[in-house]
Amino acid sequence: MNQDDLKKQVAQAAKEEVLKRMPKGQYLGIGTGSTANWFIDLLAPHRDHFAGVVSSSLASTERLIKLGFHVVDASQLPESIQTQSHPLPMYVDGADEINPQGHMIKGGGGALTREKIIASLAKEFICICDESKQVNTLGKFPLPLEVIPLAQAAITQSLKQWGGTAKLRLISSGKQEGQPFLTDNGAWILDVHGLDIKDPVQLERDLNQIAGVICVGLFAQAKADLLLVGGQQGVQRVQFSK
Ligand code: A5P
Repeated sequence: MNQDDLKKQVAQAAKEEVLKRMPKGQYLGIGTGSTANWFIDLLAPHRDHFAGVVSSSLASTERLIKLGFHVVDASQLPESIQTQSHPLPMYVDGADEINPQGHMIKGGGGALTREKIIASLAKEFICICDESKQVNTLGKFPLPLEVIPLAQAAITQSLKQWGGTAKLRLISSGKQEGQPFLTDNGAWILDVHGLDIKDPVQLERDLNQIAGVICVGLFAQAKADLLLVGGQQGVQRVQFSK
């Protein structure tokens, strides 16, 4: 099986997991990226199982709407649900890296801020990925930071104290090639290379303190609760302790 087959396989397992454990008529959080796209496509015939879905990006929202899902803005959930500490029972999304504790790097697709917001609304984060995303130490994949554009230079300078080299993410093709990549929130992404992330929880806390950083692509203070990982031997289920 190639990587795409593995993503499809794990998305299928996630679909079964969600349909088995979520009673009909609730709201589901759905992430962004190629693995999440498989999940959306496979879940489409079951869209009426859900009262609605909350999406973490404009790209996922567009795909969900085309497939007939009822997409609800995170701040427009019914009041009876909105006031709960976790309005969504589950959030299903991919990752760029995940370590044995369930800490993740996310944001390869640029949707990290909305992903973190929707994940925070969910009782359970179900991470879905292929086995190439499993690592012992996070940081080989450049860590995405969503930043306010005018703070770019100062943040780049500040990151040097952790050994990080920041690169502004640029649009890689089309008419706007070479222009800064704009997130759904109109901000920029710095991809930080060279970090050896020994303590993801502390680093996430530290980087969150830099003025102008909107969101850090480390999901460590709030991590995955369950990992479904696709490999050549099938899908493995890894439950993380709180
Ligand atoms: C999107 O911003 C990311 O956080 C994705 O969840 C992550 O990049 C995984 O994407 P793939 O499923 O495409 O590998």
